[in-house]
Parts: sequence; structure tokens; C-alpha cells
Amino acid sequence: MVGLVRPAVVEDAAAIADVHVASWRTTYSGLLPEDFLGSLDEAGYEGRWRRILEDGSSRVYVAADGPDIVGFASGGRERAGESGYEGELYAIYILRDSQGRGHGRRLVQAVVGGLRELALRDMVVWVLRENAGARKFYERLGGVYIRTQPITIGSSSLQEASYGWRSLDDVRY
Ligand SMILES: CC(C)(COP(=O)(O)OP(=O)(O)OC[C@H]1O[C@@H](n2cnc3c(N)ncnc32)[C@H](O)[C@@H]1OP(=O)(O)O)[C@@H](O)C(=O)NCCC(=O)NCCS
Repeated sequence: MVGLVRPAVVEDAAAIADVHVASWRTTYSGLLPEDFLGSLDEAGYEGRWRRILEDGSSRVYVAADGPDIVGFASGGRERAGESGYEGELYAIYILRDSQGRGHGRRLVQAVVGGLRELALRDMVVWVLRENAGARKFYERLGGVYIRTQPITIGSSSLQEASYGWRSLDDVRY
């Protein structure tokens, strides 16, 4: 079945939180301490996503596989402080069993559409330096490596890398 991507609604907050926590655990196992990953709390993330969806300043999309939400992505005005970029892909997570089936590409396409609606012309994304899979995905979509900087997550000191698309027309699906 071809996956469907649609704008998220407030009622999706719990499903987005479930995908968020499950994907963090599988993606960052070995990169972040297991006790930190174990402590991530779906209910807390549900509240956070509910507020984001109610607030409406980010564009949030979900990928559905039949009745199940298997991924999500969000974006909006650049907020991480990368000079020279207006738009940002804030987050994109797909459940491990649903990766590699085009959901990521379709979610980026949706976020790019959302950035265009906000009259933003370019896009930056931050990714953990050691997250080789996601980096390959961004490179596949035409993202150009910009730089690396330190980031603290919980008590872990890591490095994150940025990728940019100078024009939304440069995103290659
Ligand atoms: C990274 C992620 C969003 C990609 O989404 P996806 O649905 O798995 O990727 P798609 O099926 O849409 O793939 C799109 C293209 O990227 C390529 N690609 C995707 N993941 C890749 C990987 N790990 N290594 C190499 N290429 C990859 C695909 O081969 C495809 O290219 P093709 O059409 O030329 O074959 C998804 O795998 C994911 O959620 N990973 C875990 C969470 C994560 O790291 N999120 C990003 C945090 S910054």
C-alpha cells in the first residue's frame, strides 16, 4: 500500500509521541545512555506535541500506513541559529520497521510545501554527527554539509552536523 502523508491534527499528539519515543530509542541506542532513553516518557511528549499542534507555528505532518501512524516530521522558521537560512526541518522520525519505504521522502516533501506556505525559501536541518543513516538520507535529498557543533542531550556531550538547501527547489526527491 502506498503510504499517505497528511498534516497532523491535535488528536495525533499521542501517536506522534509514541513514534517519537520509540524512534529515539532505536535510533540513538549506543549514542545516548540507555537509562536516558529508557526515561523518555510518552505522556510528557504527548503534552509537548499537543502544545506544538495547538500553537500552530510549526508545520507538522504524519505518515500513515493503513490506520497506523508510522512517522512524522515538523518544520518552520529557522530557530537553531544557523545564519543565512530562513527555514528549518525540525524533526523527522519513522518507526524502524517502516523505514526505507519512502515515508521519509514524502514527509520532507510535505515539510517543504509547508515552508513554502510560510514564504520561507530555504531549509537547514541538524543531525547527530554519528547518525550516519540520517546523514545519508539528507545527502541523498541534495542537502549540502555546512558545519559541526557541540550539543548536550541529557548529560551526554555530542556533536551535531548541519545540512542545508539554499533553495527549496534544490531538494531532490
Ligand atoms: C532517516 C529517515 C527519516 C529516512 O526516511 P526513510 O523513510 O527511511 O527513507 P526513504 O525510504 O524515504 O528514502 C529516501 C531515499 O533516501 C535513501 N536513504 C534513506 N535512508 C538511508 C540510509 N540509512 N542510508 C542510505 N540511504 C538512505 C533511500 O535509499 C532513498 O533513496 P533512493 O530512492 O535513491 O533509494 C528514517 O530512516 C528515520 O526515521 N530514521 C531514524 C530517525 C532519524 O535518524 N531521524 C533523523 C534525525 S535528524
